[in-house]
Amino acid sequence: MKIAFVGKGGSGKTTLSSLFIRHLAATGAPVVAIDADINQHLGAALGLDEAEAAGLPAMGEHLPLIKDHLRGTNPRIAHADKMIKTTPPGEGSRLLRVREDNPVYDACARPVELDGGAVRLMVTGPFTDADLGVACYHSKTGAVELCLNHLVDGRDEYVVVDMTAGSDSFASGMFTRFDMTFLVAEPTRKGVSVYRQYKEYARDFGVTLKVVGNKVQGEDDLDFLRAEAGDDLLVTVGHSDWVRAMEKGRPPRFELLEDANRRALSALHTAVDATYELRDWERYTRQMVHFHLKNARSWGNERTGADLAAQVDPGFVLGEEVVAPA
Ligand SMILES: Nc1ncnc2c1ncn2[C@@H]1O[C@H](COP(=O)(O)OP(=O)(O)OP(=O)(O)O)[C@@H](O)[C@H]1O
Ligand SMILES: [Mg+2]
Repeated sequence: MKIAFVGKGGSGKTTLSSLFIRHLAATGAPVVAIDADINQHLGAALGLDEAEAAGLPAMGEHLPLIKDHLRGTNPRIAHADKMIKTTPPGEGSRLLRVREDNPVYDACARPVELDGGAVRLMVTGPFTDADLGVACYHSKTGAVELCLNHLVDGRDEYVVVDMTAGSDSFASGMFTRFDMTFLVAEPTRKGVSVYRQYKEYARDFGVTLKVVGNKVQGEDDLDFLRAEAGDDLLVTVGHSDWVRAMEKGRPPRFELLEDANRRALSALHTAVDATYELRDWERYTRQMVHFHLKNARSWGNERTGADLAAQVDPGFVLGEEVVAPA
């Protein structure tokens, strides 16, 4: 199951991603955690110290390796150089599983020990000004998008992405790659304006979007979010002393997280699992092709000097049947 946490800067994307990852790990589920946010703080929120977080390999620096691995023996992709972030898998491509060892994880993922078990953490690496443009060939989030488009994830295995709701993710189709998108919103006008904008983009793509209210204090905050988000409001989280203690570098055991916040995390988990029945791999594949052709036309063909539409394998549909069961 692929889950994104998006929202306004400072709303609590990283905090809630990290709590949800800790919650999943505590249930014993396999988890790949990905930091694709402009502010790279997921490692710290999962308890890494500054040196450990700084020592994480950056996916952005391993793009050639990622492309070369995923390309496999796909005859439609002559060379990794011709692969852009939206190049879809086809016959011969190598696919990724959540629970396996592979060269991409070897290069880009590091284990992080949490209460209940270890998760794999991958980070895009710090963003530069050039990464914030729309049509970026060497985009950091492109490494994440390539991995998501080659990932075959089953029920009870989770990929959680802490993500920026930026133009990059809308232009490339990254925002359509998730079973569930949690939009973290504070009970403020700015908080919900990001929600409206996201919903507008998402509308035509069947994106499952739920609002998670954060830093909610009292009835007035709750009423405001209910009025603004309606049925999209899934659950709210209040101030957490557990989070405060964690930020001081003294994380209590996860089981000591406040009851109300534990219940909120369980509600997120239940909502994610319920989307499994809505999965449509054909639509998922069709959308990646749609965004690939769009990127090919707008900049990809010119940048690579190739007709990137030829990379599309018309008979290929990603899905759990394509790979042997883990
Ligand atoms: N429920 C909460 N209880 C206590 N502190 C919180 C809570 N949610 C967020 N915070 C604090 O608010 C600050 C911002 O949260 P966080 O870093 O998770 O936001 P973000 O959306 O990831 O921000 P950025 O856009 O900078 O990446 C952090 O100091 C975090 O610890
Ligand atoms: Mg963050």
